Amino acid sequence: MNILGINAYHGNASAAIVCDGRLVAAVEEERFNRVKYAAGFPAQAIQYCLKTAGLKLQEIDHVAVPRNPYARIPTKLFYALQMPSFARDRAKVLAKFTGIREALGAAFDSDPAKLTAKFHRIEHHQAHLASAFFVSPFERAALLSADGLGDFASTMWGTGSGNRMKIADAITFPHSLGLYYSGVTQYLGFPKFGDEYKVMGLAAYGVPEYLDAFRDIVRFDAHGNGNGFRLGLEYFIHHRTGPEMSWADAGKTPILGRLFSEEMPRRLGRARAPEEPLEQRHQNLASSLQARLEEVYLGMLKKLAEHTGLSAVCLAGGVAFNCVANGKIFDSTPFERVFVQPAAGDAGLSIGAAYYVWHQKLCKPRSFVMEHSYWGPEFSHEEIRSTIDASDVGRNGYVVEELHEDALNKRAAGMIMDGKILGWFQGRAEWGPRALGNRSIVADPRRPDMKETLNRRIKHREIFRPFAPSILADATGEWFEKSHPSPFMTMAYSVRPKRREQIPAPTHVDGTGRLQTVTRDANPRYWRLIKAFEQATGVPMVLNTSFNDNEPIVCKPQEALDCFLRTQMDALVVGDFLITKK
Ligand SMILES: [Fe+2]
Repeated sequence: MNILGINAYHGNASAAIVCDGRLVAAVEEERFNRVKYAAGFPAQAIQYCLKTAGLKLQEIDHVAVPRNPYARIPTKLFYALQMPSFARDRAKVLAKFTGIREALGAAFDSDPAKLTAKFHRIEHHQAHLASAFFVSPFERAALLSADGLGDFASTMWGTGSGNRMKIADAITFPHSLGLYYSGVTQYLGFPKFGDEYKVMGLAAYGVPEYLDAFRDIVRFDAHGNGNGFRLGLEYFIHHRTGPEMSWADAGKTPILGRLFSEEMPRRLGRARAPEEPLEQRHQNLASSLQARLEEVYLGMLKKLAEHTGLSAVCLAGGVAFNCVANGKIFDSTPFERVFVQPAAGDAGLSIGAAYYVWHQKLCKPRSFVMEHSYWGPEFSHEEIRSTIDASDVGRNGYVVEELHEDALNKRAAGMIMDGKILGWFQGRAEWGPRALGNRSIVADPRRPDMKETLNRRIKHREIFRPFAPSILADATGEWFEKSHPSPFMTMAYSVRPKRREQIPAPTHVDGTGRLQTVTRDANPRYWRLIKAFEQATGVPMVLNTSFNDNEPIVCKPQEALDCFLRTQMDALVVGDFLITKK
């Protein structure tokens, strides 16, 4: 039985295909159309999923879409009466949504009437919860989804057992931890969609001087057995104007309209304009924002653990990308095991909707665990060779060598050790926003100047943002104060104090690192590269950052080659080929 999950007309448009309960392919549309966080209809992602599964559109039995227009009708009606323009915008998106059958037909040049698949609308947060629980290694777990907004809710929690999920409660519009974080992110002068993780990085430089004010911006609430929160609405405008979001256009990065009211600068001081310098005050504000998020998020998780008595938790929604907060779960709550799916944000909804149908609707037993994130496109040796040949790099100042894996790893590890920056392109592309060793730029974690060098030569990011380490999983406890797996870079742990001097490049100013734990099973080739680096240096990790330069992560060999030639990387490993400057 074949189930196609589609996240369309929403940020991070994506597609995933599940065949007889097994995930076969999953990818974000941005990897194809090269528009960061692309919304719209993910036609290319769907085409890729079908091709990988070897299926025609007519062979799909179920199409699962993570939006249910019938969810929370009373709340929607209440706000629609107050905000007619917002209601009109939502209606437009909804009209697109109800036309998914037609959009599918158009993308595949076939008559929509001939599509035999059954269509399912899965409520947004239930799809989030399904995206984590049904692919987790847990038979039973507590579940929490927290994001900006989806189907008029921002937060949902419950429990999962076997092939069933049970929803306990939800927090609805306008109260939202995601919009809280986005609103303050905007106030701090970071207006772009997806800028929240920059502010999370900035928070480590400050002290939570404004925590009292932030406790007024997000307040605890008795809702849901004391598990809830609500926003101090005087600090926001989205409940009056509707959150302004542009989801329909696949050719553009989504835009989130202004969320904070004049009350925020009145209470916290003048808002920062994007071009203004970052001062200590801004860092303290970011620190306070993060501290309050942690109080509420970890507080909710603690109550969830107490109410359910469960020791494992699955997290989803954009807030689950807050690796700093996630890293504190073990010390702040009774939970002992945590699973965050690599596409915890809205891209993951396509997987969630598909698995929701498979388990919750069709009652099929569990049989799949997501042990790695490599569900995207891959390219054969011959395809890579012809890309390199066509580019003519070999005759334009570069040396192209084809090497056996052992020799290649030794050369690559040696270059990293010598301070060189390497593009590393292997196998299937990662699912989710993090490069996890198949579309990565790797460098020496031991060099204090590597962060600055990477930024100056390649990444051109804000200097306060940290870089991350990929570490051999078995060595985690020797280098970090926690050793719980973090295969998808969704946890930040403290680097052991005595180790911080050894790995200054991926150690953030607060002593933490947003690590990726790498096992031989999950990614043998990347594991062997790190192992070769360990054998040469005694350090079982490399610095890993995504293979891109202010664009979606590269997908094809051609994009890797273009990024390599455009930036000042020293070498590129693509499949079995090593490309270096003459
Ligand atoms: Fe969401």
